[in-house]
Amino acid sequence: MYEVYNQQLDTMATTTIVPTVVVGSPEKHYRSQIDRLKHITTTSKSIMELVQVKRHATALEEVIRKLQRDYELSQDILPYAIEVRLSCQREIGKLLAESKKKKSPPLKVSEMGLTKRESSLFQRFANASDKAFHAALEKLKTEVVNGRYKSISTKRLLEELQMQVNGKDSPQQQSSVIKPSDNWNFSSIRYPRLQSQTDDWGYIPGDLYVNCLWYYAKPGDIVVAPMAGMGQIQRVYDDRKDWMRGDFFDFTLKLLDLNPRGPYEDKIQANDLTEKLPVEKADYIIMDIPYFGMVGNQYSHNSKDIANITNYQDWLKAMHAISKNCSIAQLPQGLCTVITPNYRHVTSQEILMVTDDIRSIWTSCGYQLFDKAYASRRIQKTQNISMARLNKAAKKQRIMLTDISEILTFIKL
Ligand SMILES: C[S@@+](CC[C@H](N)C(=O)[O-])C[C@H]1O[C@@H](n2cnc3c(N)ncnc32)[C@H](O)[C@@H]1O
Repeated sequence: MYEVYNQQLDTMATTTIVPTVVVGSPEKHYRSQIDRLKHITTTSKSIMELVQVKRHATALEEVIRKLQRDYELSQDILPYAIEVRLSCQREIGKLLAESKKKKSPPLKVSEMGLTKRESSLFQRFANASDKAFHAALEKLKTEVVNGRYKSISTKRLLEELQMQVNGKDSPQQQSSVIKPSDNWNFSSIRYPRLQSQTDDWGYIPGDLYVNCLWYYAKPGDIVVAPMAGMGQIQRVYDDRKDWMRGDFFDFTLKLLDLNPRGPYEDKIQANDLTEKLPVEKADYIIMDIPYFGMVGNQYSHNSKDIANITNYQDWLKAMHAISKNCSIAQLPQGLCTVITPNYRHVTSQEILMVTDDIRSIWTSCGYQLFDKAYASRRIQKTQNISMARLNKAAKKQRIMLTDISEILTFIKL
């Protein structure tokens, strides 16, 4: 039988997580709460108590996340709360594993306030050595402090633990972010929008850049992102050890954009791509272009911004100028990737086969289609009333919504 509540829970019972009642410095207040949870985690031998700690730590994490948005707390307090929650989960896992060994008639996991999934997950955490677990946590916490990730996902932690076991440069295990087929749909995103981005839409996940770089870039290449936006590709490049693993290599990455912005702004050169591409011999060009008719005024109010062109013929003319400038900057065999979906409008019933037009334009500028992959724009990921209305309208009007982007890669002839 498990020991249940073998300690007085008075310490826990008084733990309240209500931001409005905080008197004095919230930073101090929450830090001391986390310290207390940490202390109980390291001393407790009761699963039930640890489950309580886990709940408190999860709630604290949420509060801290909300407060951080208002810039009231320092950057390292959230990772600290996450660390305590994960350590607590690992302690629960250890006790669960011990009780199995002792063959003591266990309580059902649901009676302990856990799901079966949690029970097996926490035991996986417990399987890792202290050294591996702490090394993994340190690395992932740093990524949260740096703003690369908003949190530490379970998936990331498990992958990192696996890497700690295999050795960092182990070639056996390839990153799950790399897709083995031309279906580049991601059930969970490894490189989500950068923290400073205010909107989810109008930006591809870094996972797409990972796959493009994996399949099309070579060691020593000059890789150019002439519509780099906020520099998601730079983040992915900086993190390449993680997804390249044993096949790690360097290349030169050049970032340009009409409106340099975001955390990598200082690395992005201002440039109007319809005018020129000031790079000689680009081995690989990769472009997440503004999708026609979907992102007006999303990136800027600049009239040179392709996103703000409302007439399709004008948009195609701009794309033609861009294709020509890419062609000038590349030698034969150079690769150029363009990411775009087609266009459909449910109300006006307009359908434009944008991907075919892009292909004709690039072909007319000295390229040939080399490869193609597909990725969901994840338009259905949020199921709310407006999405339900849109879906209904699409079916009623017999005009499909556009969810798939094509990743078209051309080769210079
Ligand atoms: C789809 S976004 C790219 C976003 C990027 N993938 C990211 O994650 O931040 C398209 C980018 O094209 C840029 N752009 C629009 N017109 C341009 C032009 N004429 N020359 C260069 N860049 C342009 C916009 O500023 C925007 O950053």
